[in-house]
Amino acid sequence: MPPRKPSTELIDHPYRPPGGFESPQPPVHKASTVFFPDTTALRNRQWKDKSGYTYGLHGTPTTFTLEERIATLEGGTDCLLVGSGLAAIALVNASLLKSGDEVLLPANVYGPSRELAQHELAQWGIAHRLYDPMDVAAFEAMLTPATALVWLEAPGSVTMEFPDLAGLLRVCRARGIATALDNTWGAGLAFCGFDLDGQGLGADIVMQALTKYPSGGGDVLMGSLVTRDRALHLRLKMTHMRLGLHVAGNDTELVLRSLPTLPLRYAEQDRSARVLAQWLASRPEVAEVRHPALPAAPGHAHWAALCTQAAGLFSITFAAGITPAQGRAFVDALRRFRIGYSWGGPVSLAVPYEYPPRAGLPQGGHLVRLAIGLEDTEDLRADLEQALAVLAG
Ligand SMILES: Cc1ncc(COP(=O)(O)O)c(C=O)c1O
Repeated sequence: MPPRKPSTELIDHPYRPPGGFESPQPPVHKASTVFFPDTTALRNRQWKDKSGYTYGLHGTPTTFTLEERIATLEGGTDCLLVGSGLAAIALVNASLLKSGDEVLLPANVYGPSRELAQHELAQWGIAHRLYDPMDVAAFEAMLTPATALVWLEAPGSVTMEFPDLAGLLRVCRARGIATALDNTWGAGLAFCGFDLDGQGLGADIVMQALTKYPSGGGDVLMGSLVTRDRALHLRLKMTHMRLGLHVAGNDTELVLRSLPTLPLRYAEQDRSARVLAQWLASRPEVAEVRHPALPAAPGHAHWAALCTQAAGLFSITFAAGITPAQGRAFVDALRRFRIGYSWGGPVSLAVPYEYPPRAGLPQGGHLVRLAIGLEDTEDLRADLEQALAVLAG
């Protein structure tokens, strides 16, 4: 009997399970190294068109599967995955902008995107300016030959104004300026970022923080960039490759597992949020409920022209005389709502925001953003009611 060599036998094992296994969830592939059958295959390796595998960084069957599903969700053709929504934003900027260019961001842009522009982009010689997303004419007047990229968001982060996306995009398209839409709120369900007018008017790049609704668990960070122009996709993909961006197999699996329930979760959180938003609008402690589906909300007409659905996310401002400290006390008094960033998960969340007075921002200098989870709506209403009581004290 030849001597036993467990060190080799356990690595180079002859067993191969039978093929043809199928079950509801796609298998999870994890790799840095990918084997090639011979040196010819190694030399002829091709990874740009998903026709094969070369290295974990360039994709696995698991990441390819999620990419295809997210491209379908957004109504585009190609998708790239990265480790967070913010990394997806950074990848667009790194790929499309060069020294001397200018990028325009909406004044209510996701805060860290503005910080990226203020720090790294400025350091790389790329200027940025903030535009009022609710004023298409003023936006048009801001465009210059240096404007190389415009970011769009609907509704804007925290203050929740819903812009005339089609109007803004028409202006950019007429001038050949690249556009990128942060579609995290819409989740690929509320509207199609590639077709806002039924005739294909849309953004060049549709970005989403999969961290929110597609993950649905509050336990994964991931971002996606979907395009419908192969040349643009390849440009982003080459930067993605050179920056060494990737997503992990286990995280990819979690998003794949959550995707089938995405439409159901989105619809339920929308339903529950609207019930709570309407109830809060009737409360004397509340000045304004900034939920795009409420007729008094900023940009409601733009939302209504484009969507019937909405994310379960809105902000409230308080009646005159209620101070930021009282706003924070209201948040501290919540019991079922937890204090924390992000949204789209099962747990309802609250975050107080304070800001210096500025044109276009809600009165009062502070608001609370509520992200509605999947708890019973009446339990959430009762929680809000008991917490509002602290404002009376
Ligand atoms: C509108 C929007 N875009 C992008 C992001 C960034 O996503 P991530 O947390 O995955 O970096 C967020 C996260 O809060 C967001 O709210």
